[in-house]
Amino acid sequence: MRNSRIEVRPIAGAIGAEIHNVDVGADLDEGTVGDIRQALLDHCVIFFRDQKLDVARHKVFTRRFGEIFIHPNYKGTQADPEIIVITREPGDKKIVGEDWHADTTMMPEPPMGAILYAIEVPPYGGDTLFANQYLAYETLSDGMKKMLSGMRALHSDRMVAGPQANKNAFRATKVREDAEWRETVSAHPVVVTHPETGRKLLYVNASYTVGFEGMTEAESKPLLGYLLEHGHRPEFTCRFRWETGSIAFWDNRVCKHLAIHDAGPFRRVMRRTQIAGGPMG
Ligand code: SIN
Repeated sequence: MRNSRIEVRPIAGAIGAEIHNVDVGADLDEGTVGDIRQALLDHCVIFFRDQKLDVARHKVFTRRFGEIFIHPNYKGTQADPEIIVITREPGDKKIVGEDWHADTTMMPEPPMGAILYAIEVPPYGGDTLFANQYLAYETLSDGMKKMLSGMRALHSDRMVAGPQANKNAFRATKVREDAEWRETVSAHPVVVTHPETGRKLLYVNASYTVGFEGMTEAESKPLLGYLLEHGHRPEFTCRFRWETGSIAFWDNRVCKHLAIHDAGPFRRVMRRTQIAGGPMG
């Protein structure tokens, strides 16, 4: 039985809604958790304002939606493997998540979602963009949909971690770049059926997808480039302006997102958990 009184307010035509009348740090009843999950499925990314979440309550809230996913490329770089603190210091030349991406798609079972909590935000700048990949798929031509059906793409973490990614010299948030690091590669369908909604979506992203199975990277590039650009047409997106205590909770299966690198002289500190997912099929 549902007894929740959450209020869902869409923030854009294609994606994203703010959720009001809920304290996510409280012990939520099943009805409220169910309604939050439904809002996530309906809007792909949901936002909360003015929340007070310490690390323990952040984990409790996350576990209401699944097991906490441990990110292999932050192992040993963060105090708590279940938490990634994403810090942007003034002067950082790179930031985490500055290309359009879904998280951690080099894994055979990428995380189903992420919950990002704002600890310290700039007075302006540092917004995050989200893009709806159901719409990205649905707006392709029938010919393109036919061509993509049955195709698989290779997702690698070589652009975001490891020595050759060379991120750590340019940003405060460190990732594994040690000599023992090894590339992880997984193949996923280019068109995925969302396991909960049953809707088809386009599943390629700029940070991880390196090409199509059975094709060279050079051969893949023109089509991949087209699909990557198409996936974040402005009418598929929303933009979230952070305040201290804001939360973004995205469905990582259907959202791409991008952290805007425009915080200039300001510090920005966010705390992220990820929720374990399943195979993308
Ligand atoms: C991320 O890509 O998970 C980080 C997003 C952000 O910092 O806005």
